[in-house]
Amino acid sequence: MRFIPVILACLSLATATILENGQARLDPYPGQATKIATIADSDPNWKTYPPDAHQIGYKGRWCSKYVSWWSSPGIKFRYAGNDLAITFGNYTSNGVLLAWRITGQPWNFANVTAGDTYQFINKDTPGQLTAVDGQETTFEFRVTNWALGVQLHRVHVAKGYRIYGIPEFNKKIEMIGDSLTAGYTGTYEGISSFAWGLCEGLGNIEFTFTAYSGICLTDNLCWGNPRGQLYQWLQTSDTGFRAQQIYGTNPEPWQFDKYQKADIVIINLGTNDSNAYTETGTVPDDEFKANYIALINSIHEKYPRAQIIAMQIWQGFYQYGNTYLQNLEGYQGAILGAVDNFKKKDGSNFVHYFNTTGILQHNDINPLWHLTDAGNIKVAAHLMQYIKLTFGWELGNTGKEVYSHTSYYNDLPDY
Ligand SMILES: *[C@@H]1O[C@H](CO)[C@@H](O)[C@H](O)[C@H]1NC(C)=O
Ligand SMILES: *[C@@H]1O[C@H](CO)[C@@H](O)[C@H](O)[C@H]1NC(C)=O
Ligand SMILES: *[C@@H]1O[C@H](CO)[C@@H](O)[C@H](O)[C@H]1NC(C)=O
Ligand SMILES: *[C@@H]1O[C@H](CO)[C@@H](O)[C@H](O)[C@H]1NC(C)=O
Repeated sequence: MRFIPVILACLSLATATILENGQARLDPYPGQATKIATIADSDPNWKTYPPDAHQIGYKGRWCSKYVSWWSSPGIKFRYAGNDLAITFGNYTSNGVLLAWRITGQPWNFANVTAGDTYQFINKDTPGQLTAVDGQETTFEFRVTNWALGVQLHRVHVAKGYRIYGIPEFNKKIEMIGDSLTAGYTGTYEGISSFAWGLCEGLGNIEFTFTAYSGICLTDNLCWGNPRGQLYQWLQTSDTGFRAQQIYGTNPEPWQFDKYQKADIVIINLGTNDSNAYTETGTVPDDEFKANYIALINSIHEKYPRAQIIAMQIWQGFYQYGNTYLQNLEGYQGAILGAVDNFKKKDGSNFVHYFNTTGILQHNDINPLWHLTDAGNIKVAAHLMQYIKLTFGWELGNTGKEVYSHTSYYNDLPDY
């Protein structure tokens, strides 16, 4: 089969800078998909699937319009044949960056735009023809930026071939957070976050990140977000501009009963409450604690069997004489108090405190007060071990790539 690209190769497409050790990365977004002509549903060369095809596995939160929300949402399915293309709907953000891959290979990056069709896979795509006969060949993409998203309109494979559903893993983690969980300032944002490192790193689990930059736990206007997580985690869409345009102040409630329930829920909230840029200012400790307890109750109501991990939030480091010290303010008492509130006499606690003090050092936090790639990896690694030791979960990823294109720290033969 031959397809005529509507625009020539996307070499000039991705020009934004990623700095690695101070130098601009030469090819920051390798793996651009080829934009092709619109494929009619009746096109004789293709078999086309609508967005409600049961074979398409939606990861993270998507609404009834098949629009993606929050951090790192994606789709996943198996396919046969050599060709795979996707058409994006009108609610797709212009030039939004997707990470995509075949099965467990390193992630590729493709900018896509509303209304356009892109061929992601052809016979020459790395990994396409090397699969061992009968081996699973999975296609997956993830939206890398929390504020942007796609609308899935159609999936196409070569005529005579089809796509297949993939059963869900039987364990699931949900992470409720802000910019720290969403990977803000990470090299590839969501897929460089500690949330990603934990969940992809554990392997063989489903996961959802209801995380959005600047959001507070407290249900206040906070850093431009009209609502806090106490309200918003119950909704399908996030607090962003896209959602306000489509849904105004009436988002679709997330239908918890229709989806796999989380076994572990991890909360990392409070950083923005403690620096709140709201009309009411910083949220006081007692109010924060009450809100934290309310969030835990809300999670427990939706996922009665879930274990809940309350992460101690962290602040930055400052120079102190000839060393550095970490600012240790960050609702310690309030978060500990909220956890203690659920302590049971018989020890059957479902709320756990994850102490982050001492995991991060000065250069794990960047000048914008967020984690470096290395800082994200450290938090992810400690959380993995904590979950293994506390709940007996296995470290199940024994092969698939997790942090693509982040191996630039001290990765040189000479230095
Ligand atoms: C996008 O919008 C145009 C113009 O309103 C409409 O004709 C088209 O059907 C829409 N496409 C999708 C995929 O929603
Ligand atoms: C591709 O995505 C990256 C990351 O969001 C962005 O910086 C770049 O401008 C995008 N390129 C295009 C052509 O949209
Ligand atoms: C809170 O959110 C805003 C907006 O995303 C961000 O600029 C700010 O750095 C955040 N505060 C902290 C301390 O992370
Ligand atoms: C958290 O860890 C730090 C460093 O080990 C320790 O000083 C502190 O007491 C711990 N906090 C709690 C509540 O266990």
